[in-house]
Amino acid sequence: MIEVSAPSNIALIKYMGKQNSKSNLPTNASLSYTLEKLRTTVVLEEVSSSQDEWIPLSGEDFFKIELSEKGKEKFLSHLQRMKTNLQLSGFYRVASANNFPSDAGLASSASSFAALTLACYDMKRQKNPSINISMEKLAELSRQGSGSSCRSFFSPWSIWDQQGAREISLPIQNLHHFVLVYESRAKKVSSSEAHLRVLSSPFFAKDSSGLPRVERAEKRLEQLIHSFQERHWEKSFEICWDEFWDMHELFHTSEPSFSYLNEEVKIVLKRMKERWQKEKVGPLITLDAGPNIHCLFREEDTDLAKSWQQEFQPRGMA
Ligand code: DP6
Repeated sequence: MIEVSAPSNIALIKYMGKQNSKSNLPTNASLSYTLEKLRTTVVLEEVSSSQDEWIPLSGEDFFKIELSEKGKEKFLSHLQRMKTNLQLSGFYRVASANNFPSDAGLASSASSFAALTLACYDMKRQKNPSINISMEKLAELSRQGSGSSCRSFFSPWSIWDQQGAREISLPIQNLHHFVLVYESRAKKVSSSEAHLRVLSSPFFAKDSSGLPRVERAEKRLEQLIHSFQERHWEKSFEICWDEFWDMHELFHTSEPSFSYLNEEVKIVLKRMKERWQKEKVGPLITLDAGPNIHCLFREEDTDLAKSWQQEFQPRGMA
């Protein structure tokens, strides 16, 4: 029996839009911060039956994952992909769970697929200790299951571009993270569906200044790395802010259009921006494909983080 866990990650420059939806090749490079505290655990066990199966993992420290039929299929087909790639024979029961609730505003697909990839590798190593596969290669295999999972192999910062995912060394470390969860009554559009739909937005081809989405993201990536290197925090905030709005504008203008932003989220975002402008300090703010606001504070801004959490949280988690 193999037990491994892997962390989630939050993208500041977003992976949105695929060149190839079968293998999850992105249209642009992305950059993420690894959320070490938010993890998926996978237990992999060989079984004598003639097919693989998935079950929720139970345990005191876990919140059960709720997987739809489609979700189960996606997860088990990644297990199959790993078995084929690693030449791993036999059938397996895969049990998984998160140490955060599934309504915590975090898509658990990054941590789930990274953990499953690592579990398969450990199983293979148990059977054949001489095997040696690099983290970069494992990340590449994991990407084929779910794109954002390839960034969870590196910490604290991960970059994913044409060459694959790898660690990037930046002078900003030990960020405090929390996510504010807002309910959305709108019908959920999965991130996989969002990746397809954004391609239909006119702003994917170009924005009002003529820049295609891919170039906007790549330009921000360069600027964000530079502003982290220069420790220019306010500039970093502005880049992240523009980036998540860019992605959400693509959602709002795609065919058919969709949105994760309800009135409450829009009002909170406006108030957050006002507080930033007034105090000239605050967190990096970003939203993924959901109505949940992620805040990332510098190591030294502990008290500020507490005060923001108190001011803005409907329900929060550290
Ligand atoms: C908005 O990795 O969930 O969170 O490759 O189809 O599994 P698939 O998509 P997924 O997309 C994540 C999109 C995002 C932005 C990001 O994490 O970069």
